[in-house]
Amino acid sequence: MLDFTDKDFLIDPYPALAEARAIGKPFWHEPTEMFLAARHADANAVLRNKSLGRIFTPKTPETDWNDFNYLHSDSILDSEPPKHTRLKSLVSKAFNPRTINALTPEIERLTTMLLNDCADKREQNGTFDVLADFAEPLPVKVIAHMLGFPDADEHLLRPWSQSIVKMYEVNPSEAHKAEARTAATEFADYVHGLMKLRQSHPGMDLISTLAAAEKDGERLSVEELIATCVLLLNAGHEASVNGFGNGIVAALRRPSVMQPLRGDPRTVSRNALEEFLRFDSPLQLFERTATADTDINGVAIRQGQKIAALLGAANRDPDVFANADSMDLTRETNQHIAFGAGIHFCIGAPLARLEMNISLPALVERFPALELAGEPTRRPTFVLRGYDAIPVS
Ligand code: HEM
Repeated sequence: MLDFTDKDFLIDPYPALAEARAIGKPFWHEPTEMFLAARHADANAVLRNKSLGRIFTPKTPETDWNDFNYLHSDSILDSEPPKHTRLKSLVSKAFNPRTINALTPEIERLTTMLLNDCADKREQNGTFDVLADFAEPLPVKVIAHMLGFPDADEHLLRPWSQSIVKMYEVNPSEAHKAEARTAATEFADYVHGLMKLRQSHPGMDLISTLAAAEKDGERLSVEELIATCVLLLNAGHEASVNGFGNGIVAALRRPSVMQPLRGDPRTVSRNALEEFLRFDSPLQLFERTATADTDINGVAIRQGQKIAALLGAANRDPDVFANADSMDLTRETNQHIAFGAGIHFCIGAPLARLEMNISLPALVERFPALELAGEPTRRPTFVLRGYDAIPVS
């Protein structure tokens, strides 16, 4: 029933996702050969079930896919305990609330700088692209700053990341596969070079810290270190860009919904950003593989079978959210699972929240009459849901 490649589905997947949720329990989806969990309780249970792991299947032949493979098999996201625990605890230190809050002045500085550029563009052309000119560069610059990725090479990050994430969609084409392989090799080589530089000339950045990190007497292997840096650089901006883009489009299309944010941007933004992530979640599907026979809501999942949590479907579940299909930027209680749940819960959630809590009110204060200046173009992808361009004036 769900066709993840259908054009209409990609424009608005929520009616079909509501039908999937109405089935009431996980169901087998033949095209992807996995179970899908669409209800909030079921998706949440998938993410928290200890017999359901993120098990990366290496791409073959190994020689061609070597770099792509270890960027995944050696990353936090695609490993399970005990390796996951070791990797995550090393990185967690850099993402504790104190360290993240200390980034506030830098995020404010970058926000102001980007808004100045947006104002210049609007002055010249009457419009700017709130995605390409604002929502995208901000998290890219912040994560690059944290890791100590050189400013001059920052433009390389987004294309590498974009090429790699195309592999996360349901049916990547041969051209996308080739692009992802090349990007993985270039990205890994670049980070390896940077890491060697930081080992001999350490700075205050996260790459230097990771390169020097020791946990229980065990250093990160070169592959683990490279994989961790690449993951942080990619995960550190992809969802933030799309979360902001999806949310701002939905809000601007509904003037009465946008009203409270325009009226009191600094107070409303904290709830508004959570509603952005709930209402049109930037990450829609995460897979797990059963490492032992288990069940979700009475549906047996045999060892080796796959099941995916549909986060966007879960975040519209009327059993959990009042008026689930309505956007409400003042929504107080918001148990969305856009950041996941269980052991893989997003490590960057405090950073993503801080960024949006600074950038969203700043945007609305700077452009009080902000509105769409044309139809935003949707990207033809489901797993990473977002726009290509969002013209505003
Ligand atoms: C709005 C922005 C973001 C959203 C919606 C988001 C969402 C998620 C989700 C759903 C997962 C869990 C995946 C799974 O269970 O399979 C995850 C994991 C992760 N995220 Fe985020 N993320 C965001 C921003 C960030 C940022 C800014 C970083 C910064 C470094 C980051 C780093 C990570 C990492 C490292 C993991 C893996 C954690 C683990 O496997 O234990 N994310 N994210």
